[in-house]
Amino acid sequence: MKRVPVVAAVAAALVLAACGGSEEHTASMSRPFITQDPFGASPDGEPIDLVTLRNANGVEVRIMSWGATVVSLRTPDRDGNADDIVLGFDSAEPYFTRSPYFGSTIGRYANRIGGARFSIGAEAYALTANDGANHLHGGTRGWDKVVWRAEPFHNTDGVGVVYRHTSPDGDQGYPGTVEAAVTYWLRPDNSLAIDYHATTDKPTVVNMSHHGYFNLGGSSADDILGHELTIPADRYTPVDAGLIPTGELAPVEGTPFDFRTATAIGARIAADHPQLAAGRGYDHNWVIGRVSPEPALVARVVEPTTGRVLEVESTEPGLQFYSGNFLDGTIAGKGGRAYGHRSGFCLEPQHYPDSPNQPSFPSPELRPGEEYRSRTVLRFGVATKS
Ligand code: GLA
Repeated sequence: MKRVPVVAAVAAALVLAACGGSEEHTASMSRPFITQDPFGASPDGEPIDLVTLRNANGVEVRIMSWGATVVSLRTPDRDGNADDIVLGFDSAEPYFTRSPYFGSTIGRYANRIGGARFSIGAEAYALTANDGANHLHGGTRGWDKVVWRAEPFHNTDGVGVVYRHTSPDGDQGYPGTVEAAVTYWLRPDNSLAIDYHATTDKPTVVNMSHHGYFNLGGSSADDILGHELTIPADRYTPVDAGLIPTGELAPVEGTPFDFRTATAIGARIAADHPQLAAGRGYDHNWVIGRVSPEPALVARVVEPTTGRVLEVESTEPGLQFYSGNFLDGTIAGKGGRAYGHRSGFCLEPQHYPDSPNQPSFPSPELRPGEEYRSRTVLRFGVATKS
């Protein structure tokens, strides 16, 4: 393995990639590094590549261009032992048809749109219905199922990669050609910034998010029910049987949805509550409320046995917390491991579900001349033994 300073590594990797070649470059653990390597081909034969980002503290994230998907994310525990804390697969192929959005970039609209239709002004649009009668995560072929164009970069604040995708007018029924970009930026402070940007040539809706399934216990941990979750939100959006919000912004006070103080995910998940029944656990949007240009804390998770901490910051008005209720042991992931019930959780900053049909919700509309911008920061740390 060659040891190459980052700049040379990036330049070499970029040159090699431009020449169709690729080569692993490693630098000492004292310096960040970045590589871009082949990672198979899409069902249409498009080459897929894998970018590896690592900082000087041993935090490493690997992202493939299929779905701009995080396939592995290694962070140290309180004893300094690094392990993979996200669910996924060892190769690209299982992601094509067997992934419940493991680690993927979601778009054009993350979460559900009721009835797979919406209107902008007098114009009505019919979307692909891929979740019963509803539209979920961009439809039958959302942005998690396309090959994005990767542009690795390195700067004084870390290493990263910009992914770009052009979603054509009429894609899954959405109006407007959208130029979308998602940037992953691994920084020296052990945070991974995820920046979303989009423009459109016609009025449309855009609501991108990251759909990582985390288990802070590591690659051989069991379920996530002992993880202690905090969500600093007073309200959430109750849903109907199809997980479409009713439009109410209900108080969390006195309910199993109150995570204003750190609470084990499993503490109340089996409580007798109609919303837990509807979601088969937690699968709801919490009302963060404000949309601000600067990200603010929207969730914090501590895994007590390893001490790993994940803080999620976002500019988005909502946060979907999904406790992995549909995982049932039938998916064999990395290393052949069967992913059991609730073996991973998702925290998806976003605009509220079904916002295109709910005028009282913050609007997800994007018009020509406007820029869609959203930032999520995943901040990794450790907690000392309590
Ligand atoms: C989101 C939804 C869940 C589920 C997962 C993917 O988190 O809210 O209902 O569809 O995506 O399985």
